[in-house]
Amino acid sequence: VSKENDTALSAFEWLTKYYHHMLKHSKQGKEGYRYLLHRGISDLTIEEFQLGFAPNDTDFTIEFLLKKGFHEAMLVKEGILSLQTNSKQVTDRFRGRVIFPIRNHFGKTVAFGGRIISEGEPKYLNSPESSLFHKGKLLFNFDLARKHIRKENEAILFEGYVDVIAAYQAGIKHAVATLGTSLTDYQAKLLRRYVDTCIICYDGDQAGIEAAYKAANLLRQTGCNVKIANLPDGTDPDSYIRTLGGDAFRNNIIKKSEPYNTFYLRYLRRNFDFSQESERIRYVEAAIKHLALIKSSVEREYYLKELSNEFDFSLEVLREEIHKEQRKQQ
Ligand code: CTP
Ligand code: MN
Ligand code: MN
Ligand code: MN
Ligand code: MN
Repeated sequence: VSKENDTALSAFEWLTKYYHHMLKHSKQGKEGYRYLLHRGISDLTIEEFQLGFAPNDTDFTIEFLLKKGFHEAMLVKEGILSLQTNSKQVTDRFRGRVIFPIRNHFGKTVAFGGRIISEGEPKYLNSPESSLFHKGKLLFNFDLARKHIRKENEAILFEGYVDVIAAYQAGIKHAVATLGTSLTDYQAKLLRRYVDTCIICYDGDQAGIEAAYKAANLLRQTGCNVKIANLPDGTDPDSYIRTLGGDAFRNNIIKKSEPYNTFYLRYLRRNFDFSQESERIRYVEAAIKHLALIKSSVEREYYLKELSNEFDFSLEVLREEIHKEQRKQQ
């Protein structure tokens, strides 16, 4: 770590403390504090994650950091302050937002996520990439989750950092999240170094399902066993835990997560209109193409049975098709 990085890390550390202080002890911060409590985030969690509040002011952060002796140019370069494109004026990046410090894998803050308290756009504002913050390499909460991930030989992957925080508070500590982007190959390989199994638990909406499919394939390429936890449509881990509790989440969502192949077949179905015979046949053909890739014959047989029952084809015919497919794929 260069000297310059040290200075930037120190600025992030000061600011983390300051925003946290503002949340807990300032008049403006009360609104943010109430917002978090209202979302079911406890005082203890606010402390553990050092959540904060950035006042609705254009130069609150600048003044604080300049007083501490940091240089404006460095603060702009590291994305802590933002440079207005037109006026070339330097201003605070986060204004009137609840602050989620984003820690690197060693526990140091290297970016912030800021959530708006009321309605408005964007809902989340994140620090830009910098010499300290590489979105594609960082997993939110990996520093705290690492030992739990190792112990469980399993990692849970969420979409949002609030999901991670809600789960953590409910005692589910082996979870991480990407930072508003898709899972990268780098992140998948990192997880694979620690676990054999990854559970993907994305939001229960179409976007979540599509993203889960992509993340699952990246993880599988690393040799990871992938399971998918399915949430009811319109919910996400945070909202589920808040309304139904951590135990329900553990028992009904995480423990019931399904093997990748089951998920895949369901995912495949969305392309076919099952009210038409020709489409049903095309689906079975597509499913067979996929099942032929499964190495374990026990597992393959399990899915074949399901297909045979649902679509009323004899197992013999389906097995025959699988063998044809396997010969083609060789
Ligand atoms: N995200 C982002 N910018 C946005 C929206 C989302 O960076 N404008 C990222 C955030 O990291 C967010 C994640 O994508 O946590 C998932 O998005 P979404 O499901 O919309 O947000 P939630 O985490 O559910 O946020 P909240 O519960 O606060 O509404
Ligand atoms: Mn505190
Ligand atoms: Mn979503
Ligand atoms: Mn969500
Ligand atoms: Mn949410």
